[in-house]
Amino acid sequence: MAITDPKIAQDDRSLDQTLRPKGWAEYIGQEMVKKNLKILIQAAQERNEPVEHLLFYGPAGLGKTTLAHLISKELRSQVKVTSGPAIEKVGDLASILTNLSPGDILFIDEVHRLNKLIEEILYPALESRSLDIIIGKGPSARTIQLELPPFTLIAATTRIALLSAPLRSRFSGGTFRLDFYSENEIEKIIERSAKILGINIEKGAVKEVAKRSRFTPRVANRLLKRCRDFAQVEKSQSLTQDLAVRALDLLEIDPLGLEGTDRMILNVIISKFGGGPVGLQTLAAATSEEKETIEEVYEPYLMQLGFLERTPRGRVATGRAYQHLGHSFSGQSAFLS
Ligand code: ADE
Repeated sequence: MAITDPKIAQDDRSLDQTLRPKGWAEYIGQEMVKKNLKILIQAAQERNEPVEHLLFYGPAGLGKTTLAHLISKELRSQVKVTSGPAIEKVGDLASILTNLSPGDILFIDEVHRLNKLIEEILYPALESRSLDIIIGKGPSARTIQLELPPFTLIAATTRIALLSAPLRSRFSGGTFRLDFYSENEIEKIIERSAKILGINIEKGAVKEVAKRSRFTPRVANRLLKRCRDFAQVEKSQSLTQDLAVRALDLLEIDPLGLEGTDRMILNVIISKFGGGPVGLQTLAAATSEEKETIEEVYEPYLMQLGFLERTPRGRVATGRAYQHLGHSFSGQSAFLS
């Protein structure tokens, strides 16, 4: 069962509950991660111990939260969901930890945004299940130690490089990287979602949505729903390839899944900065996007496509990006082709 309260975050709506896989067999892709997790879970269950703390990382929308829910289901345990930015004060974390029941899973999303002071409270909680709280100030300050029930922390991040070494080292169960899905896996996810949503979808439409889904299930499900809207308004009984193409074109999602902002970022690098290198800060100012949004939302997919490179001197648009956007590429402005 999942519990969400306002501090215990508001994250849970990001993936439509009805589309969330309910068991391993329904979870498509990430095969190596699944295999390792199944062993970890079975072994811990056989020893009657909680699963050790786990860290998931990788681009947004690939199923980190879904995996945490699957693990809790498998263990028949309760999952309490929160996120780094939702835990503002030491007291917030203390309250979450002291309210855990034996065997609970605590899921912290965006763990790289956890405040450093709060992070330090987490260390003894993870290592020895003790919560050290300082009461009072100055000479009369005292530390009290509370014992916590056995629990498993599952943390997720899109930015593993921002995690401190001490925090990273405490995920004794393992650190797992989620990768972009293959086109074939995305097609299967779309077919599964269409079935659940009662959408009569043509194979050609499945392929069309998959191609433009950035190899990301969350995007695939979102685009599928927008195509369903389009087909419904067009009074069509089924989602045909032609309808999918028209719906996705109308959303200005191009055949490789690039959206307006992706193209704008590349166009700015090419037109204003001669293809780069351009520093992230400068790029953020020139595109009116947050640095973090560029890094976490747009760049992973642009790099996956081989359209953008992060170099020590800044961001560079590659020859492929020039070609896709219809710019002529001489090869000399960027040092990458
Ligand atoms: N929905 C989101 N992620 C999924 C996955 N990996 N498998 C099936 N459905 C999903």
